[in-house]
This record gives sequence, structure tokens and C-alpha cells, in this order.
Amino acid sequence: MSDDFGNSAVPVIAIDGPSGAGKGTVGRRLAKSLGFAFLDSGALYRLSALAAMHHGISLDDEESISTLAAHLDVQFRSNPENGDALILLEGEDVTRAIRTEECGLAASKVAVFSSVRQALLERQWAFRESPGLVADGRDMASVVFPDAPLKVFLTATAEERAQRRYNQLMEKGETVKIEEILGDIITRDEQDQQRAVAPLRTLPDAVVIDTTTMTIDQIIDELTMLCRDRLGLTI
Ligand code: DC
Repeated sequence: MSDDFGNSAVPVIAIDGPSGAGKGTVGRRLAKSLGFAFLDSGALYRLSALAAMHHGISLDDEESISTLAAHLDVQFRSNPENGDALILLEGEDVTRAIRTEECGLAASKVAVFSSVRQALLERQWAFRESPGLVADGRDMASVVFPDAPLKVFLTATAEERAQRRYNQLMEKGETVKIEEILGDIITRDEQDQQRAVAPLRTLPDAVVIDTTTMTIDQIIDELTMLCRDRLGLTI
């Protein structure tokens, strides 16, 4: 059964926050331990931006990008070799390509367009399936799933988020400058917070968790406690 925000009988844990706050890592782990589905909404904006770049469409062309977003040929699979997430865009493996800094900035650019956001709504609601959903993004609690029984806002200082991203890239063997990563994070924060449509913001009914000095395990522990207290889940 479907209504305004997908199947409202299915509980959603909405996790919003700026880039690099740890939403993806903890959201995925939490979803796994609960047996819930996981929505990486940022991936949909990244895929829309990447599709535009592949088709030579300017990132300023709202109409063409919203048409692309509405008809995105995307498949979310799991890699048969290691069980990791595998994302195919028009049949091509773009799992790594959508994670670049360039694609993140491009995603943030196309995300300012209301028709692009509108085009991706139904696709996000479709992830709301029994027994529950952990949804990660910027507007999960404010726009996509405003009826979510648990809303969490994960944040950390820009410097800490840049450091985490730097460590991740160094582990992958990429040569990067931390100053450039910090610059990209600050630009993306500004774009995501200052846009007119669905800006990143903290809602009065959201639980704010500052992860600056927390480990992933500590964040998971705190979220697990919230799931027990607020949703009555037995985990
Ligand atoms: O979470 P992420 O870094 O993968 O997201 C990439 C960009 O997509 C982000 O800078 C802003 C946009 N985005 C959005 O506007 N709304 C969402 N729910 C998720 C992401």
C-alpha cells in the first residue's frame, strides 16, 4: 500500500547531515544489523550528475537533467565477488566513478534544481519496504520521509570530515591535498545549506549527534540505543 511518502506503515530511520559526517558508513551498518533496506539518496544525485556528464549535458540545464533523472537506467546490485554494493548506470559499472570529488560537487550542483529533486522522489519512496528503511541524505527528514519515526542529524567539524576523506583516499592509494578536500567540503556545505529547495537543515524533532570525536562503533551504539528507545526495536 502506498501513500504520500511511500508505505507509511514501514518505519524509516532518517539520517541527514553534511558530506563526510559518516552517514553512509553507519547507515549501512545499522540497516544490516536491523535487517532493514538502505537508501543512499546521494547516489541518485551523483548518478544524475554523472549521466548528464556522460551525455554531454551542461550541469546548468535543469530541464534536460530532470528528464534524465526521471528516466535513470540504474541498477543497485551486490558484487558477486565480495558482496559489496555494485551500481550500474545504463549497464556500465559506475560504483567507483560516482564517488569522486568531481562527481560529488556536480551532484551538489544538480541537486539545487527542484524538478530534479521532484523526479527522484518516487524512486526514493520505492525503497520503503518492510520491515524498515534506513535513509541517508540531506532532506530525508524534511521532505522525503517527514513522517519518519526517528530523525537523526549527524554532523562533525569540516576539518574532521576533510581528515576522514583524506584518510579514505590515501588508503586507496590516491595522492590528494587535504587543503583541497577541505575546500571542496566547504563549497559543498554552502551549496547544500543555501539552496532554495530542500536545503540541509536540522529539524527541531531531530536528534543531533556530533561525531567529531566519536568512532564508528560509538555512533552505531548511540543509534542502536535510539532505535530501542524510540522505535521499540529489540536489537
Ligand atoms: O551524500 P552525498 O555526498 O553522496 O551527496 C552528494 C550530493 O547530492 C550532496 O552534496 C547534495 C546532494 N544530495 C541532496 O541534495 N539531497 C540528498 N538527499 C542527498 C544528496
